[in-house]
Formats: sequence, structure tokens, C-alpha cells
Amino acid sequence: MSYINENFLNLQESYLFSTIAKKVAKYQEENKDKKIIKLGIGDVTRPIVPACIEAMHKAVDEMGTQEGFRGYGPEQGYEFLRKAIVENDYKKRGIDIAEDEIFVSDGAKCDCGNIVDIFAEDNKVAITDPVYPVYLDTNVMSGRSGKYDSKTGTYENIVYLPVTSENDFKPELPKEKVDMIYLCFPNNPTGTVLTKEELKKWVDYAKENKAIILYDSAYESFITENDIPHSIYEVEGAKDVAIEFRSYSKTAGFTGVRCAYLVIPKQVTGYTKSGEEVPLNKLWNRRTCTKFNGTSYIVQRAAEAIYTKEGQKQIKENINYYLNNAKIIKEGLEEAGYTVYGGVNSPYVWLKVPEGLTSWEFFDKLLEEVNIVGTPGSGFGPHGEGYFRLTAFGTKESTEEAIERIKNWKK
Ligand code: MLT
Repeated sequence: MSYINENFLNLQESYLFSTIAKKVAKYQEENKDKKIIKLGIGDVTRPIVPACIEAMHKAVDEMGTQEGFRGYGPEQGYEFLRKAIVENDYKKRGIDIAEDEIFVSDGAKCDCGNIVDIFAEDNKVAITDPVYPVYLDTNVMSGRSGKYDSKTGTYENIVYLPVTSENDFKPELPKEKVDMIYLCFPNNPTGTVLTKEELKKWVDYAKENKAIILYDSAYESFITENDIPHSIYEVEGAKDVAIEFRSYSKTAGFTGVRCAYLVIPKQVTGYTKSGEEVPLNKLWNRRTCTKFNGTSYIVQRAAEAIYTKEGQKQIKENINYYLNNAKIIKEGLEEAGYTVYGGVNSPYVWLKVPEGLTSWEFFDKLLEEVNIVGTPGSGFGPHGEGYFRLTAFGTKESTEEAIERIKNWKK
């Protein structure tokens, strides 16, 4: 008999973005004449920039020659890309990261999900609430949570750190001792940020409690304000306690190309039950060599091209395009009388839903009455209830149209 991993039965029925996609598809099927504007899932719409396209073409041609052909590459990523990452994403910010502390992958979602492999099942996990669902679901799948309580919308054994307007979207340190802490800044879904001093509290907590911070900085390229850290390693001491996730999905429009990387400094350690310290870099390297055969050469060449002068200029144009959409959404909603957060250092705008409606009720009304798709805050966790997320990743035209529809909406 083959027994299943029963932890999967503990998950909610469907992944948030799949639920939304199904609801929208059903509505469109029943209302074929309606022009739906999708500002739900954070998927980009701008084409890949020319510098990356050229690099991919060149790599494709190379693969068709005897000299240029490549089979399996290094599981951790090609040296050319790891070098470019070290130089551009870290050295330029005064951060000393070594090439062998970088692991190139096919996406930050997979990295965030897979990292749980190297941690013990009985670690206590803390997540902010609302949160990107992958951190929670993958810990449920791997047995780090208890049962789901449908009354509170929370899992036993998971420590939820509320981020709401009441605490200015700044999570408080956990009251109990935790071992793994997920932080994502600029934050998905709220679009809010932490300063270096605010992040330092977390680094100090992690050091005192021998905890690990799993820091997702997938949205760092959208930071526009000066004192907001792009990497957790800008904070003193973070190299001892933090793993950082980076993604090219939103930075360079690679949601369909697939490339990201993970940073595990060699001094970041976990512990055996007998108290022995073990470098996590070594464990992750071992896992990677066994379970992954590397990101495609063609894709890594495209990622490398992001760091060229042309590449930088071109991707910045796209980032500014999306930031302008965020401004259109934020200002338009404010004009329409909504209370709005985020959207300044982030492609996500987080709004308060009108009094008397739940997030899902607002989702349905917005879809049915003005044909706009967003993401209900409660889909990201119980403290997301009463909020709603819109993304700036649409086209400028559709974003403007969506805001006009909302402004003219007779609720
Ligand atoms: C989101 O909408 O939160 C993101 O696009 C999801 C992701 O990056 O996987």
C-alpha cells in the first residue's frame, strides 16, 4: 500500500491564484461580451527587453555549434552569472557575498518552497499575516503546522505576525521563541517597506534566538525611497542569520522565462539536535546537486544581460512604467475616496475595502459590476480581511481604464 503525505490534506482546497483564475474564467464564460481587466496575480505584461532577447538569441545559436553546445551546467549556476550577481547586486551596495554563496534557480517561488527541505520538521515558523501563500503552504505540506482552524483561518503551530494599518504594516517581534522567520520587503501583498533600523530588530532577534530569517526581496528593484534596504545584508549581522531570495520575474519580466537566485552566506548555520552547528550553504548545495540540474544556459545568458549597461537602462524603463501604473492606481483610488497603502516602493497597491464588505464580497462586486479582477486580502491570511490588492503590472491603458471604471462606479 502506498501511503500519502497526509499533510497535503491539511491544506486549503486550492491555491489562491488558481481559485481566482477559476472564478474569473467562469464569469467570462457566462459573460462573453464583458471586457475584464486583470489586476490580480502579479504577472508582468511588458515584453522582455532587447538586451536579454539578444543574449538569448546568441546563446541559442551557440547551442547549435559544436564549440558552443552545452549539456548539463553547474547545478548552482554558471560562473558568469554568479559573478555578475556578486558584482552588481551586492558589491555595488557595499555587501561582500562570495560566488559560492549564490545559487541560481528557475524561480523564487520554487526556492521559497524548496528551502524547507533543509529544516527540521519541528521548527517553529513565523510568517507575517497577510503573507505570500507559498511560505505557509509549503510548511503545511512538510508537516510544520498543526491543524487548520476554519474559525480563525489560522494553523496551529504557526506564529502569525499581523501587518495591518494598526501597526503601520510593521510586524512586531514574536512573543514566543521561533526558529524560522519569513519576511518579504517590499512586501507582497501590502506593498509596504521596512527601514534598515526596523529590519535590524529582526536580525538581532534571530541572533539571540538562533533563528533563521528567510528574506524575500523579489520586489527590491521597485524601491524608490533612499533609506529602504534592497538586501537584508545591508543590515549589520544579517550575514550570520539570513537567507535571501531574489527573482528576475518582476525585475526583468522573467515570469515566463524563469530565473532567480538564492543567497546563503557560508556563516549561516543551523543546529543538529545534539547542538552541532551545520552550515546551511553546505546542506542546500547537497540538496541542489541531488534534485536540480541547473537553470538553462540560454536563460542564464539572458539574466546576465540584465546587468549590462543597456540591460540596466532597458529594465529600469519597464520598472518605471509599472511604478507609474502604481501611481495611477494609488492616486486614482485616493481621489475616489479609498484608503490606500503601498504603491510607492512596490508594484502592489493595498486598499481598504468599503465598510461592511468582506474582501471576497468586494472581489465579486468589482468583478461583476466593473469587470476588474484584484486579489482579496483575506486570501493572504486572516489579517488581510478588509483589504484588497491591485497590481501595477497591467498595461498603462488598462490600468487607466480600470481606475476610471472604479471612479465612475456607483456602489
Ligand atoms: C503574486 O501575485 O503575489 C505573485 O505574482 C505570485 C508569485 O510571484 O508567485
